[in-house]
Amino acid sequence: MTDAMHPPEDLLPALRNRRSLRNFAPRPVDPDAVTRVFEAARWAPSGGNGQPWRFVLTRRGTHAYEALAGTLKPGNAWATDAPLLILAVVRSVHVHPEKPPRPNRDARLDLGLALGQAFVQASEEGLVTHAMGGFDLEEAARVMHVTAPYEVGIVFAMGYPADPATLDEERRERDAKPRTRVSLDTVLQEDRFLNDVEEASGT
Ligand SMILES: Cc1cc2nc3c(=O)[nH]c(=O)nc-3n(C[C@H](O)[C@H](O)[C@H](O)COP(=O)(O)O)c2cc1C
Repeated sequence: MTDAMHPPEDLLPALRNRRSLRNFAPRPVDPDAVTRVFEAARWAPSGGNGQPWRFVLTRRGTHAYEALAGTLKPGNAWATDAPLLILAVVRSVHVHPEKPPRPNRDARLDLGLALGQAFVQASEEGLVTHAMGGFDLEEAARVMHVTAPYEVGIVFAMGYPADPATLDEERRERDAKPRTRVSLDTVLQEDRFLNDVEEASGT
């Protein structure tokens, strides 16, 4: 079941307040806050402490930002208001100085954990982060010079939220949609897995 809802009051404020907004204030991000966001990512857990994540930060007004922004799908054009666009990169093999590289099945999970920590720290800093899978991965690899054994992961926008009073109605509405989440009973199960997709389709 999917419900419109608000996060519970007793969650950590940084979790409760985090939202993937689409309207950004033009002001630059405090450099110390940026450092803390990526420190949060750096201190995430990872399989074998492999730390397979890398982040390429681009600042609005630079050639690199324009190049990365150029890879976004048209539906993500709002993101070019953000002062920062970041390309998350992942290494999907374990590397060891004396052993041949071997696949790291968990690399993208590790990246997801690092991003989760970064997003929570950003929320604590009063920053909006908005992940985007809607971009051309091959083109992003090309323009940002990402080569094997690294691969492109995801792009995210980061900046302070726009003051809603400064926005026209269409832009205000863009961020005012009710939030929905699958129920906790579906997400958290006990003792036995219940396949809610099979249940719903009657198979
Ligand atoms: C892997 C991933 C890819 C996403 N891709 C896009 C995207 O291309 N465009 C977009 O507007 N939002 C994108 N989102 C944001 C989600 O739509 C958003 O997180 C979700 O609707 C929940 O809203 P919330 O983050 O405000 O809680 C993406 C989020 C994730 C984690």
